[in-house]
Amino acid sequence: KKPPSRRGSMADVPQDLIKQIERLEELFLVPAEKLKEITDHFISELERGLREENATIPMNATWCMEFPDGHETGTFLALDMGGTNMRVCEVTLSDQAGEFDIIQSKYRMPEDLKTGTADELWGYVADCLQQFIGYHHEGEKIEALPLGFTFSYPATQEYIDHGILQRWTKGFDIDGVEGKDVVPPFEAALKERGVPIKLTALVNDTTGTMIASAYTDPLMKIGCIFGTGCNAAYMENCGSIPKLAHMNLDPNLPMAINCEYGAFDSEHKVLPRTPYDIIIDKESPRPDQQAFEKMIAGLYLGEIFRLVLLDLNQQADCNIFDGQDISKLKKPYSLDSGFLAAIEEDPFENLSETQELMQTKLSLKTTKPELELIRRLAELIGTRAARLSACGVAAICKKKGWSTCHVGADGSVFNKYPHFKVRGAQALKEILDWPENKGKGKGDPVEMFPAEDGSGVGAALIAALTLKRVMVGQ
Ligand code: GLC
Repeated sequence: KKPPSRRGSMADVPQDLIKQIERLEELFLVPAEKLKEITDHFISELERGLREENATIPMNATWCMEFPDGHETGTFLALDMGGTNMRVCEVTLSDQAGEFDIIQSKYRMPEDLKTGTADELWGYVADCLQQFIGYHHEGEKIEALPLGFTFSYPATQEYIDHGILQRWTKGFDIDGVEGKDVVPPFEAALKERGVPIKLTALVNDTTGTMIASAYTDPLMKIGCIFGTGCNAAYMENCGSIPKLAHMNLDPNLPMAINCEYGAFDSEHKVLPRTPYDIIIDKESPRPDQQAFEKMIAGLYLGEIFRLVLLDLNQQADCNIFDGQDISKLKKPYSLDSGFLAAIEEDPFENLSETQELMQTKLSLKTTKPELELIRRLAELIGTRAARLSACGVAAICKKKGWSTCHVGADGSVFNKYPHFKVRGAQALKEILDWPENKGKGKGDPVEMFPAEDGSGVGAALIAALTLKRVMVGQ
């Protein structure tokens, strides 16, 4: 029998809960060998995506074809249509390498917009841009401002200023957008309102993150997001993208690839899915899609936790929350990853913060042993997410033969979820077999850093690089 994993305090936990904790550990712990197996399959899937149209991992060519050299200049708008917020920035790049000025406004993305109509979506986005310009350029006569639009969903691009939405991810479900170019309806909404903006580049958040990070650190080779969704971009050579061979591009030209690797293993070959992951998938607006993302991203962590607690409550041999009204626990997506993060941050001594959270958020009273189980469950879910997320980064590094590199990472889970970075670094060490003294965070061969502002500065830089390319007639 495994020793109890929580120092000392488990002594008071009754047998039925100990059993449940052990069962959960069985389900959620991912050993090094499994991480390696996942990474190997990941590499072959990245390669398949570069070869085939409609592969599981789309490996989208983004037409962002160089890193900034630090001498990009000009004023650009950047729009970030994220999962939760919408942000508009005006970025002025100075000719001092790596320096810029930025002004910005944030708008809350109303929840019902995610499942509303396309007209409502583009209307809202255009209204925000109009408001921004009205506020910051009141009374000025302005020429069409170039815009880098961070649209963080999988898009097929034949040019940098177009993008056909392959499918919605992250809980979005708006009819009539998938399979179509998103730019014309967006521009039509701007035109209707007389907003003087010209879309110059449609950018994924991962590509923006990679470019913004490389602007200040030339060792940056990968941009990652661990937030509402999970994905990465890196620079490939055109010669290594067989599906673009018909375009006869110079094989040595760089091409940023938006992997869209949240879709990894959507045919369920290697990921260690639990019954809870299967429910999340089935109940989501897009079942059988984004399998990897659904085990890692912030949108789902709280929901996995909720489903486990609900299941425990319903098991005959487990007395958790016995006799209490669990109606709040029954509400899908009522707990976000911030809830889980707060539990993981609660000092071990008495878990009083956790007790209060369970009371205020779910109207549930908890005993000390139940709190121990809840804390362990949060750790298991958070640790699994961090460890699995390392497989994607390791797969890109191994595929490219990069034994050292910097990775720029952004997103609420990376920035705010307790221990995510350390757990991820530990998993990278296990997958990439670094010697013992490595893998403790700082100074690792492959090291993740909080990224520069990808959807602001990154999108502006990509717009600047695009205009430069147009001017030299590339
Ligand atoms: C989802 C989107 C992807 C984005 C990621 C992080 O996976 O499909 O485009 O990069 O979320 O926001």
